Amino acid sequence: MKVFAYSYRKFDEAPYFEKYCAQLGIELGYTELDPTMETAHLAQGYEYISILLTRVDAQLVEEFARMGVKMISNRLIGVDHIDVKRAKELGIRISNAPYGANCVADFTLMLMLMSIRHMKQMMRRGEMNDFTLPGIQGMEMANLTVGVLGTGKIGRAVIRNLSGFGCRILAYDLYQSEEAKKYAQYADLDTIFRTSDIVTLHMPLTDENYHIIDREALEKMKDGVVIVNTARGPLIDTEALLDALESGKVGAAGLDVVENEVGLYHNDWKNTVIHNRYIPLLRGFNNVVLTSHKAYYTDQSVEDMVRNSLLGCYYAEHNQENPFEI
Ligand code: NAD
Ligand code: COI
Repeated sequence: MKVFAYSYRKFDEAPYFEKYCAQLGIELGYTELDPTMETAHLAQGYEYISILLTRVDAQLVEEFARMGVKMISNRLIGVDHIDVKRAKELGIRISNAPYGANCVADFTLMLMLMSIRHMKQMMRRGEMNDFTLPGIQGMEMANLTVGVLGTGKIGRAVIRNLSGFGCRILAYDLYQSEEAKKYAQYADLDTIFRTSDIVTLHMPLTDENYHIIDREALEKMKDGVVIVNTARGPLIDTEALLDALESGKVGAAGLDVVENEVGLYHNDWKNTVIHNRYIPLLRGFNNVVLTSHKAYYTDQSVEDMVRNSLLGCYYAEHNQENPFEI
């Protein structure tokens, strides 16, 4: 069988593509380019394509369908960048590539700790030999209440990590998890917004939760609340967040994701103007740690992403049950 990989990264993915293509008997075609209307033709003759976090809209899905593509297999977890509805209408199957939750969960804890200990300011001052104390007094996790929104694989790993700090943990999800209940208490959104010192997001982006943290939600929150987002940018109304940062309502934020980031992050734009004003605005705040969608990025996750994306194609080709199919 043949698979075509877009956005192929020689510097870290190549050894895993080599290893798993050999194991699964896959003939690989690839390009370092992203899938677009201009590059779609490169996958001509391939029924399976593997992609990263790049926009695959209805027009591109239709082009792939016209070319005879049977499956779009993600090398990641989220699928909000793909027009899944149109793909399914056209008979294209969608698969994702789950990987261990520790990478994002650990990163989330790092963003929480950096936020409550004013790490960005501390480092900025330190670079100029300013070793003063005013303005950077931190808080201790054990004294705080953390609201975890989404208790799937990553949310539960965050809760496990948090359990070691002795903080109070509140949780919210459409479905309750027995594992999460070991350390966290489920509550409604309103209670979580009103009582949490830190609110952290761990749900996929869907039509239902777009801007789940909006102006109204922020108004309900405690003064000085810390917002952490390692899930998807559009879960937060960024305009409302910027206002809340300016007013001091939000005391700090740790954001690995931001609205309208697709196509920007993981690329070098230093010689051009980026078409996302939220990034420079947020980066300008002393109390915002902004990372460029790197929470997932570890040695373990990259191997899992490549393997599971290829496995999704392999299962489909061999009529085997595919646990990664959406
Ligand atoms: P998961 O499917 O295991 O868990 C998601 C949870 O969210 C589920 O329990 C689900 O019931 C809940 N949920 C869905 N919609 C909801 C809603 N409207 N209200 C409340 N709960 C809702 O997924 P996961 O592996 O934990 O990943 C979560 C998300 O994290 C992914 O979808 C992806 O967007 C994001 N992610 C980010 C990175 C990164 O590098 N920053 C890496 C991996 C995943
Ligand atoms: C995901 O797996 O959903 C991610 O967000 C990571 C991706 C950008 C590689």
